[in-house]
Amino acid sequence: MKTILTGVRVNSDLHLGHFLGVILPLTRLANKHSKDYNVNIFIPDLHTIISEIDGTIKENTLLSIKYYLAAGLELNNNIHFYRQSYIPAHSEMTWLLNCIATVGELKRMTQYKDKSAGKDSVNAGIFDYPVLMVSDILLYDATYVPVGEDQFQHLELARNLALRVNHKFNQDIFTVPANTSDQMKFMGNTDGVRIRSLTNPEKKMSKSDPADNSKILLSESPKAAQKKIMSATTDSLGEINFDFKTQPGISNLLQINALLEDKPLDEMIKTWQGNTRYGDLKKSVAKNVQDILADFQAKVTSIPDETVLELLKSGESYARPLAETKLLRLQSAFGLR
Ligand code: TRP
Repeated sequence: MKTILTGVRVNSDLHLGHFLGVILPLTRLANKHSKDYNVNIFIPDLHTIISEIDGTIKENTLLSIKYYLAAGLELNNNIHFYRQSYIPAHSEMTWLLNCIATVGELKRMTQYKDKSAGKDSVNAGIFDYPVLMVSDILLYDATYVPVGEDQFQHLELARNLALRVNHKFNQDIFTVPANTSDQMKFMGNTDGVRIRSLTNPEKKMSKSDPADNSKILLSESPKAAQKKIMSATTDSLGEINFDFKTQPGISNLLQINALLEDKPLDEMIKTWQGNTRYGDLKKSVAKNVQDILADFQAKVTSIPDETVLELLKSGESYARPLAETKLLRLQSAFGLR
């Protein structure tokens, strides 16, 4: 059975953009495939500490997993949740792959360039981040790795290092993950969903935006969220058409509604195209946001920590031996065993 694997960032104040762009798509992908694939969803807590060391990781780990359960992830025996730091093979594999990856290729990683730009000093973890991510993927022979576009370069590195290792030792040690175009086909959203700000729809919705009305936090009151949609910035063209260039606000609302109702965007566009009553579209989106947020929040609070901890424990007992076996294989190839 092939493996779908992804790392979900731990984060406390997520907004509607994360919900619609990351949490829901991954939940739907897992529900669609978990009968025929292993689905590994893990918390990359060792990645988190490259920037935030503030004692919130444990709590936020539980919360992140609750988000997926509350979003409708259907558990079964093929779905595995685990924490990276609970499986030491991730770190050990990273060291071995550090001796395969080159400084040149790591320096070319745009995430590293962005994070280090203009700083006198950056920690070495930021530089080595991609190699740890490659280990996360190769340890479990993952074929599909659903990630945002900003992570595609790291995915390419995983392919390159897998091929390099297999070639160097002349053995099929690692499964080479699918290339990015096959990944996108598998994920089914080639455009990549980018939810825009409600007040300035030229921009992405962002948690650091000072305009409170621009974003809807997942912790926000459903009533307040409803109001924010009703007051979202649109345009004065007076007719609904899907075009992010001329009508970014309206297009954003159409996209949000399609995702909330789990309908293809085309269908949502057809329903509203040519309509002149912006208020009706807003009312529809506002009601969906309000209902879904209320339901989501009620579910998140109803899940006890113990449930999540049990889930992690069982996922870790699944993942640990697989990771150790793969690590041993590479240690043997290196002549360490
Ligand atoms: N770097 C990913 C992100 O920022 C998270 C991540 C870590 C990941 N390890 C991974 C994703 C392995 C997929 C596979 O979103």
